[in-house]
Amino acid sequence: MESALDHQTARALLEWQFELGVTDALGDVPVNRYDLPGAAPWQQKRNAAKPAAAAMPMAAPEEDPVAVAGAAAKQAGSLEALRAALSAFEHCELKKGARNLVFCDGVAGARVMIIGEAPGRDEDREGRPFVGRAGQLLDRMLAAVDLSRETSVYITNVLPWRPPQNRDPKPDEIAMMRPFLQRHVELAAPDLIIAMGNISCDAVLGRRGITRLRGNWGTAFGKPVLPMFHPAYLLRQPLAKREAWADLLSLQARLKGNT
Ligand code: URA
Repeated sequence: MESALDHQTARALLEWQFELGVTDALGDVPVNRYDLPGAAPWQQKRNAAKPAAAAMPMAAPEEDPVAVAGAAAKQAGSLEALRAALSAFEHCELKKGARNLVFCDGVAGARVMIIGEAPGRDEDREGRPFVGRAGQLLDRMLAAVDLSRETSVYITNVLPWRPPQNRDPKPDEIAMMRPFLQRHVELAAPDLIIAMGNISCDAVLGRRGITRLRGNWGTAFGKPVLPMFHPAYLLRQPLAKREAWADLLSLQARLKGNT
């Protein structure tokens, strides 16, 4: 674009800026004139009064935690590498309050992958998912359709660290950990996924409303997904076990290739 300034005006503007103290036309980084050797005494005095501010480094541009998680997860070429990548991930505040990383249990490569919500107190202590009361009920449910974590099921959670006081995970925490979850599914390579409870349905399918979703097969990460009531909910609402049983039968039929 051509300048609208005539030569005289441009020169006057430059001289005015020069009088104000401008010495360079352009710089890529800010220069702290108070720190330069030979600064005027009044500048040095002012500088001495604010040593911390003068020494303050420039803040690094904020990293996008979801992008960092995505890059770290993508680089992991095995389940062990993914576990290590999660251990090294420092962007999730939950990690600071957790005793252990809760990564997985069961058989890697099993046809069924269960995705729960987040570790509770027992899981946090042991570093394994679903070891508390809800986990014991989960084991009984699996046994009812001839499945077990020892032989035929792989288990993980949306979040690998326990939220304080078992509060619900926040949307930004779910979004941050989802790239790891996606990679976890890719590396574990199950035939199908069970999404246990609302948080899991949210992270996996992008939908909530477990009462409507349960029993209806969906698709996520390129796999069939069966939403089911969370076993912790079944402990509080034993009548809902009827629906859970119907879902287990649906799972069994799918595994036998009957649906
Ligand atoms: N609830 C979950 O969703 N996951 C666990 O590991 C334990 C309880």
